[in-house]
Formats: sequence, C-alpha cells, structure tokens
Amino acid sequence: SDIEKGTYPHYMLKEIDEQPLVTRRIIDKYRNDADEITVDSEIVAAVNAADRIYIVAAGTSYHAGLIGKQFIENWAKIPVEVHIASEFSYNMPLLSPNPLFIFISQSGETADSRAVLVQIKELGHKALTITNVQGSTLSREADYTMLLHAGPEIAVASTKAYTAQLAVLSILAAVAAEGKGRSLEFDLTKELGIVANAMEVLCDQKEEMEEIAKEYFATTRNAFFIGRSVDYYVGLEGALKLKEISYIQAEGFAGGELKHGTIALIENGTPIIALSTQEHVNLSIRGNVKEVVARGANPCIISMKGLEEEDDRFILPSVHEQLSPLVAVVPLQLISYYAALHRDCDVDKPRNLAKSVTVE
Ligand code: AGP
Repeated sequence: SDIEKGTYPHYMLKEIDEQPLVTRRIIDKYRNDADEITVDSEIVAAVNAADRIYIVAAGTSYHAGLIGKQFIENWAKIPVEVHIASEFSYNMPLLSPNPLFIFISQSGETADSRAVLVQIKELGHKALTITNVQGSTLSREADYTMLLHAGPEIAVASTKAYTAQLAVLSILAAVAAEGKGRSLEFDLTKELGIVANAMEVLCDQKEEMEEIAKEYFATTRNAFFIGRSVDYYVGLEGALKLKEISYIQAEGFAGGELKHGTIALIENGTPIIALSTQEHVNLSIRGNVKEVVARGANPCIISMKGLEEEDDRFILPSVHEQLSPLVAVVPLQLISYYAALHRDCDVDKPRNLAKSVTVE
C-alpha cells in the first residue's frame, strides 16, 4: 500500500525522500489546462476580501506559517499574523474588522487548532484549512480547504508535510497577488520545479549529512540554529526536528538576538548551525558566526550557492531566494535523522510524542 516503508529503515527517511515528488505533485494539482497556477476562486476571493490574515497552527505547521506570512505579505501585500494555536485561544489578539483565518495542520486533528476554529466560527469569521487529510475535523469545520497532497505522513517528525505546506502557501500567495493585480516577477511553477530538482540533489547527499551528524551531534548536549529573516524560521524548524527525535537540547535563534542573552550559553565546542540563503542578511549572519566562534563554538555554515565562502560546511543548490526554505530544511531534516540514528533513538516514534495531538 501507499504507506509501506518498502526498503527504507524508517518512515522518516522515506518521507524526506518523497519531497521532490510531492512538490511536483502539488505543482500538478494546482495547475489548470492553460498551465497556469490556480486555486479555487472562492478561496482567492476570501483571501482578497480580508483586511488581515490570521494563521493559526502548532509545531512544525506553525513554522510553515511563519514563512507563509512572508509569501503573502511580500507578494499579495495583505498583512498576516501568525499565532500558536494553544496561545491564541486563551489570549485572543484584537481582530481586524474583516479577518480571514488560515489553519495549517498536517493531520487536521490538532485539538489546540480546533479550539480556535470553534471560537472564531462563533464570532462569525471565515476559515481556510490547509491540511494533508481530506475529511479531517479542521477541514470539515472550516469554510474552505486546500490539500497538501503529500500522501500519508507516518513518522512523528513532520518533514514532507512542512515542505508541502510551504509550496501550497506559496501558490496561495501568488494567486492572491494576481487577484490584486500584482503578478509575481517570476514564474512560480518553474521555480517550484527547480526547487523539486534541488531537493532531489540534496536527497542524494545523505552520506554528507550523516558525516555532519556524526561530527557535530554524536555526543553534544545542546545545539543552536541561527539565521536571519526566513533562515531564522527554518532554523526554528531544524531545532524542533533535532530535539524531538534526538533529544538534544536544540534552539533556533535570530542571529541578532544572540548578543541579547543566548551567547552566554556558548562553550568550547557548542555546535552552531548557521544558515545563509538570503543575500541581504548574508554579511550580518556571518558576523554572528564570528562572534560565536570567538567564544569557542563549533560552526556548521550551510549557505546557498552564490553566497558561499571557503569554510562553509555545506552548499545548497541555488533556487529562487524566496523559496529557499523549501530546500534549506532538507539537510536539517537529514542531519536530525542521522543524529537520532547514531544516538540509538527511536526515529519514527520518539518518546513522549504522538503524531497528532488531539487533546488541548
Ligand atoms: C512536527 O515534527 C511535530 N511532530 C509537531 O510539532 C506537529 O507539527 C504539530 O503537532 C502539529 O500537527 P498538525 O500539523 O497535524 O496540526
């Protein structure tokens, strides 16, 4: 069946490898006969009628929302707030007069997100659910649904659902931008195709990822992920992956925040994964790396081709700068996988965690 592991030792590795295929499938599913990107017209109308969008999600899906905000604000110029579901329900922000809610949930069953959906429906607001599971609770109870088409995700650590969420959010943002008369300056379908190819290249570099995992994470107690702009958000996701399956205490930080406290944690040999995929913050993140290296950190710089420097540990194939999170996350997923494997952790079923959290 669809959800056999086949020759893979773990679902997580299989699901990481499926990302190029899933990205191509999404391009296909959201394309019309004229080869244009298309989204249900009711959804486009709802997005474009909103004066503000509220994205609500948990965990990895929340991290996807942070990047979705960039797509929607940069391209469609609609203000977006991103909220952690469990916080929103107890501390609801002041809402704009005409909000649209977007729930992002792989399973469509996350109770924290559902609690918010129930609340905002009582207030009479509209909701779009972006989910991998057709007919899930969040899909049934929302006004609109966009599917991820990622196929079943079995491993507790979410991988292909995250990149699928990013791809679908990019499509939604592009179509909303068009609806506002602001066509993108690039061909999203083509650029997502390039992303799929880059993912494939990365999935063929597993040995290097395993080397990095062994070199940096074999015995370490903690690890930090730093980045600026969207690289910071990808770092948050990289840190979540590492902590949930390898039990290494890992945190993602904005490069500029280090000096406001976190840098006190740097000791001799502390692994720092630094991401640099964005030209406008390349110099400043490299400055942050120098600061932590001066305090003894063991840096692992992952940069995008075109921005690379001599000591960078890994170079990502070049893709459109705004879509870099879809590729930058892949080595972080693989590194976490191998770190967990070499620390004898149960990769697919980490302790204390459930695939979908159906209690508040
Ligand atoms: C991801 O690796 C986690 N296991 C977890 O954070 C997950 O993303 C979160 O529980 C949200 O789940 P959902 O997308 O099914 O709503």
